[in-house]
Amino acid sequence: MKTKFHEKIGKLVLGTVILTSTLMTSATAVSAQQTTWDVRDDHTSVWSRQQAEQVELTEETTAPVIDTNFELAAPDVWIWDTWPLQNRDGSLAKIKGYRIAFALVAPRSLGWGERHTEARIGMFYSKNGKDWTYAGVPYDYDKALGHMQWAGSAMVDEDGKVHFFYTSTTDMNADGGKEWNQDGWVKRAEQRLAKTTFDISADKDGVHLTNEGKHQILLEADGKHYETIQQFQEHGNIITGFRDPFFFHDPNTGKEYIIWEGQAGSNRNYLKPENIGDEEYRKTHTVPDGAENFNGNIGIAEVLDEDVSELKMLPPLLESVGANHQLERPHVVVDGDTYYLLTISHKFTFAPGLDGPDGLYGFVGKGGLRSDYKPVNGTGLVVANPEENPFQAYSWWVAPDGQVISFINEPRDENGNVKFGGTFAPTLKVSFDGDKTEIMKEMEAGEIKPFGPYGRSLR
Ligand code: FRU
Repeated sequence: MKTKFHEKIGKLVLGTVILTSTLMTSATAVSAQQTTWDVRDDHTSVWSRQQAEQVELTEETTAPVIDTNFELAAPDVWIWDTWPLQNRDGSLAKIKGYRIAFALVAPRSLGWGERHTEARIGMFYSKNGKDWTYAGVPYDYDKALGHMQWAGSAMVDEDGKVHFFYTSTTDMNADGGKEWNQDGWVKRAEQRLAKTTFDISADKDGVHLTNEGKHQILLEADGKHYETIQQFQEHGNIITGFRDPFFFHDPNTGKEYIIWEGQAGSNRNYLKPENIGDEEYRKTHTVPDGAENFNGNIGIAEVLDEDVSELKMLPPLLESVGANHQLERPHVVVDGDTYYLLTISHKFTFAPGLDGPDGLYGFVGKGGLRSDYKPVNGTGLVVANPEENPFQAYSWWVAPDGQVISFINEPRDENGNVKFGGTFAPTLKVSFDGDKTEIMKEMEAGEIKPFGPYGRSLR
């Protein structure tokens, strides 16, 4: 891989010259199109079985093997899903020179597999974006919603208010409280999108979140577009999802959205022809039984107020009914009028008859957030774990400039033994160009360089 990166340097220099000369033309094209953008609020793109069959590892999308001699960013806690504090326009927030990141954390004294049901959100800060100080859980657990708090996103607005979005996950029998019954919990893990707010300050002792606001539920599954836990209990497999809120400010329209991982509602417990593929494909392929229960989608709601507390739920942005059960931590990056819808998925969540690696998957559309998305690179993969180390990392998140952070999951050493990670993985830099992406280089573990707003920093 290293040699490949070096070979690329020559190509890169040439690429920059060509790019600079074409930028002017593409900028003109964007503004000309703006007035005619067709934001079809009811159009749901489809990741079909036919498309998902094209998933395969390529050199451009396979991550370098992770060294199992990694250091722990916070020795007392498992760290997994991670996201930086962003400004409203998507750029990396800096508070008195500090960069801030949030991550799911749980005590290392718990088993690796037990961390999900004790997850909290921890805060990290760093002056250089490489050496992170763990500052603990910034909120009052008793006030926070749910028995556990799962992934989210965080934005600091123009007045310095931090909007802290997260998933409230609770035992549906617990009546909103914190009681928890571990037996068969997956069937009762009810998820809702929640938020609170903070003031933020920094001094020589680090970064401080104070004046914690009220915790409120922003959205819950409606049963029509998005499956409720009751619907899931009737026919579901794996786990249901209504989680991972991501705040997105569309640079082309100024509109704001929350995007999340959902499942198709009860009215979608069957496959439409387009979930399978085109006519020719449908004639020549049969769908294995049970595929219809793999009903992932990417939810979207429009933000109606400055305060991001009023939302209008919309039909899903994309669905993978019959193809894949989980489109986790969905998020967006933009290049002019080209939109990339990104999500993480597991090998085990592909529907029967389909196969793909634990990886970061991407869909590209043109002309607006609500475009007709198609898998990037023809395969849909942006970053895949290498074949020889298929579970080494997970939960990739792409910054507006193509930096990709993730966590070390279950890498194997040279003897094939698994070493649980629970810390930041090496950051990757990925290039996005039309419907093609490519891993360009590996950076340091947990590294986050400053990045600019959506729509202006991918090139
Ligand atoms: C992805 C994920 C998220 C969820 C969290 C729970 O790694 O499944 O969707 O918020 O982990 O641990």
